[in-house]
Amino acid sequence: MDSFHSPLLFFFLLLHQPPFYSANLHKINHLRPNILTQETPFEHTPPTHYFEVTKPIKLPKTKPCSHLILQHDFGYTYGKVPVLANYTPPSRCPSHKVSNIVLEWKATCKGRQFDRIFGVWLGGVELLRSCTAEPTAAGIVWSVVKDVTKYYSLLVKNQTLAVYLGNLLDNTYTGVYHVNITFHFYPAKHKFNHFVQNGNALVYGYRSWADLILPISRNLPLNDGLWFEIENSTDLALKEFKIPKNVYRAVLEVYVSFHENDESWYSNPPNEYIAANNLTDTPGNGPFREVLVSLDGEVVGAIWPFTVIFTGGVNPLLWRPITSIGSFNLPSYDIEITPLLGEILDGKVHTISFSVTNALNVWLIDANLHLWLDGQSTETEGRLYKHISSPLVVSLVSNFNGSNGTVSTSLSRSVFSTGWVKSSFGNITSQSVQNLYYNNSMVLGSRGDMQIVNQTIQSNDSVCAKMQSLYVYSSTSNKTFYLYLNSNHSSLGNGTSLYVANLSLGFTDKRSMDSGFGFLKSSLENLQDGQGYIAVKNSLVASGSGSTQQAYRYNGGKDCYFRNISSSNYTILYDEVGHKCWEQAHSGLSYR
Ligand SMILES: *[C@@H]1O[C@H](CO)[C@@H](O)[C@H](O)[C@H]1NC(C)=O
Ligand SMILES: *[C@@H]1O[C@H](CO)[C@@H](O)[C@H](O)[C@H]1NC(C)=O
Ligand SMILES: *[C@@H]1O[C@H](CO)[C@@H](O)[C@H](O)[C@H]1NC(C)=O
Ligand SMILES: *[C@@H]1O[C@H](CO)[C@@H](O)[C@H](O)[C@H]1NC(C)=O
Ligand SMILES: *[C@@H]1O[C@H](CO)[C@@H](O)[C@H](O)[C@H]1NC(C)=O
Ligand SMILES: *[C@@H]1O[C@H](CO)[C@@H](O)[C@H](O)[C@H]1NC(C)=O
Ligand SMILES: *[C@@H]1O[C@H](CO)[C@@H](O)[C@H](O)[C@H]1NC(C)=O
Ligand SMILES: *[C@@H]1O[C@H](CO)[C@@H](O)[C@H](O)[C@H]1NC(C)=O
Ligand SMILES: *[C@@H]1O[C@H](CO)[C@@H](O)[C@H](O)[C@H]1NC(C)=O
Ligand SMILES: *[C@@H]1O[C@H](CO)[C@@H](O)[C@H](O)[C@H]1NC(C)=O
Ligand SMILES: *[C@@H]1O[C@H](CO)[C@@H](O)[C@H](O)[C@H]1NC(C)=O
Ligand SMILES: *[C@@H]1O[C@H](CO)[C@@H](O)[C@H](O)[C@H]1NC(C)=O
Repeated sequence: MDSFHSPLLFFFLLLHQPPFYSANLHKINHLRPNILTQETPFEHTPPTHYFEVTKPIKLPKTKPCSHLILQHDFGYTYGKVPVLANYTPPSRCPSHKVSNIVLEWKATCKGRQFDRIFGVWLGGVELLRSCTAEPTAAGIVWSVVKDVTKYYSLLVKNQTLAVYLGNLLDNTYTGVYHVNITFHFYPAKHKFNHFVQNGNALVYGYRSWADLILPISRNLPLNDGLWFEIENSTDLALKEFKIPKNVYRAVLEVYVSFHENDESWYSNPPNEYIAANNLTDTPGNGPFREVLVSLDGEVVGAIWPFTVIFTGGVNPLLWRPITSIGSFNLPSYDIEITPLLGEILDGKVHTISFSVTNALNVWLIDANLHLWLDGQSTETEGRLYKHISSPLVVSLVSNFNGSNGTVSTSLSRSVFSTGWVKSSFGNITSQSVQNLYYNNSMVLGSRGDMQIVNQTIQSNDSVCAKMQSLYVYSSTSNKTFYLYLNSNHSSLGNGTSLYVANLSLGFTDKRSMDSGFGFLKSSLENLQDGQGYIAVKNSLVASGSGSTQQAYRYNGGKDCYFRNISSSNYTILYDEVGHKCWEQAHSGLSYR
């Protein structure tokens, strides 16, 4: 394996802002340098394999029908039309027996390149938002596999696949991303295998896949991704849409990512601090961001996003080969809008819009509207009873003395809606509740050269559907997002700058689902710690190191997975994997 300690090792540092959607070394101060790290080529070394730690997809032991849909080399693609391909479902796979459909992104890259954000869309519907890994001279390889079964209704029809990955090539940025996108259709082992777990919910139409998915994204042709760009807090992205008259359930799935001045929004200092310390190039607006989703101008959902750190973020050496949580498969956020269906079942044009509170340039946002159709009737009817979107409750305490200070920010919000929809399944009343809480404490010193951020976001979502007093379906998902970042920049006095950063990043997600027949409960805890430094002299990184430890624990009752892994300077130090639920209890990683 390539050694990080090789004396031949060298890095590049670029002391200017690289253009467009790439990541920054963490530092709030003026320069915000971006480093490009690159090793000297080692002949005969195999490419380094990068990966994100996550639970493997549960698949039946059947042979998948696989289709390579796109093979493309992403060279200079910035500001160009997305790469398009004709998607056709595999013809010899019996579609009614499909258990899982998996999208596989496989890529290689060699040379020098920043992390690039990219999106994969099918018929305008986003299937994957992801960030590329940063290559080395010896080459890297990585793949992302994602269960896309919930997009079934799209995947069984001919479509246009679009991929936008804005890459730049010149004498400095040499990395071309060689990409394959393959879809794997796994036939079910038994007929109807997929529906068993849904119990009563299936009887009342609360099954897993939507019948129709509408893109809430920008239309092709365009010279960019299909996402909307939000540049500031007053910017509003808007899409008109129309739904069929026989919808009985609707879920809006929202994709978000944040870049450039808001790439590390959670560490942006308040504008007063920036002004007091003349930090003119430092992005501000404080550390709180909120994506608001509105239907015909009314807020119907709020997203307080997980702090995904891209592969070049904080210290790029932390993410080799274990990448940061969510970076290869950014989370999407579901908003149940079934209670509001009564407002949009009129066959007329309506609008969904997005805005971002406190936004700085740039947020990339779009959504997919998943719709369940009543096969037994041409029209359903519904009515919204009550919709409350409570305003933000803000508490801000800041205490500065020149370049030193602390800022505490706490906020909360809730969004509640309830309404009924009458379809051939019956007259079902549904309720959707979002409760959100946010704390951020920030310590600043030495004009921003020293910073400690400790942030917690809690999102409790619940959906329930009832027919008279009978529970048809109910689910809750309680998520907590953690971020702790301690970073320091100092000058060693001989032209050498030292950046030191310690990081904790992760989340817990506790879910329950009651579908009438059975009660399913799951818990996931996914936490990363990272420590590293980079010393920079004469625009070159003189030395650096990065160590990452990660613990992933999933308990789904009968289905469990845990992984304890650590890397330092490109080398895996330990890697323990377990699948049995008793192993977690045994090793003290207990289910809470
Ligand atoms: C893509 O597929 C082609 C054809 O199977 C193969 O030659 C190539 O190595 C693949 N590239 C990647 C990045 O997997
Ligand atoms: C889908 O595309 C394939 C290949 O181009 C074509 O043979 C087929 O007729 C198309 N199906 C439909 C329903 O358009
Ligand atoms: C916000 O961004 C929009 C879109 O680029 C722009 O038209 C508008 O002038 C900006 N508003 C402010 C206050 O900068
Ligand atoms: C900021 O700039 C102003 C005006 O140039 C100057 O008076 C002040 O001392 C500077 N403050 C700091 C902290 O450098
Ligand atoms: C702010 O710092 C100055 C200089 O170090 C000190 O004299 C002053 O007492 C401090 N004020 C507060 C409120 O801490
Ligand atoms: C800021 O804090 C540092 C260390 O905590 C201290 O040495 C320095 O005097 C403080 N500066 C001001 C202006 O208070
Ligand atoms: C559906 O049920 C709700 C609540 O029970 C009721 O108010 C509404 O009138 C019913 N709708 C129809 C069409 O029966
Ligand atoms: C972050 O804040 C939480 C809650 O205030 C606290 O429990 C935790 O210990 C803090 N984390 C660190 C690393 O200081
Ligand atoms: C925020 O801090 C308050 C006060 O310490 C605490 O009660 C609350 O649980 C915290 N919320 C989150 C989401 O961490
Ligand atoms: C710069 O100075 C620091 C502190 O004296 C020392 O540790 C480091 O080795 C020096 N670096 C170089 C490249 O001279
Ligand atoms: C989520 O939180 C709510 C409110 O605190 C609670 O009633 C529910 O049981 C929690 N669900 C899970 C799965 O932990
Ligand atoms: C990684 O590099 C740092 C700095 O050179 C060193 O302290 C650390 O021990 C290295 N880790 C391993 C596992 O070699």
